[in-house]
Amino acid sequence: MTTNRTFTMLKPDAVDKGYIGAILKKINAAGFKIVAMKMTRLTRAGAEEFYKIHKERPFFGELVDYMTCGPIVAAILEKDNAVEDFRVLIGATDPAEAAEGTIRKLYAESIGNNAIHGSDSNENSEIESAFHFSGREVFSGNFF
Ligand code: RTP
Ligand code: MG
Repeated sequence: MTTNRTFTMLKPDAVDKGYIGAILKKINAAGFKIVAMKMTRLTRAGAEEFYKIHKERPFFGELVDYMTCGPIVAAILEKDNAVEDFRVLIGATDPAEAAEGTIRKLYAESIGNNAIHGSDSNENSEIESAFHFSGREVFSGNFF
């Protein structure tokens, strides 16, 4: 099954290094339309919830530390076959294994700090979009 929407986050390392503009340019150039977008920051509880599928993995603590260390940009993107095509555009989880020209190959530091998130299924795209854009995830700590 295909869908026309996916969800992304530009992760804290990409935001910190000033890559927001370059990454959004690549996303638009690949044919994705931005239908919702905000700069925000995940709470610890929010990051734990978002990545709860990984809570038993050895890297979970590091992942939550990383995802809460600074602002992110969350967005909903529209294109035919959005979920699958966006995973191709961002490249493999580990930038060392990512194909040439992919966003992670160009902008990610490491398998942990890998610049960008992309939903891995239509179902998760809907859950993740609702997580960030239904009004329930409101950051009320120090943004900077
Ligand atoms: P994402 O969910 O962020 O789009 O990444 P993904 O599908 O490519 O990879 P996934 O297996 O879902 O892992 C989620 C995030 O956890 C961090 N990670 N660190 N140190 C490690 O071995 C390791 N493995 C994964 C990465 O930030 C990864 O994107
Ligand atoms: Mg994933």
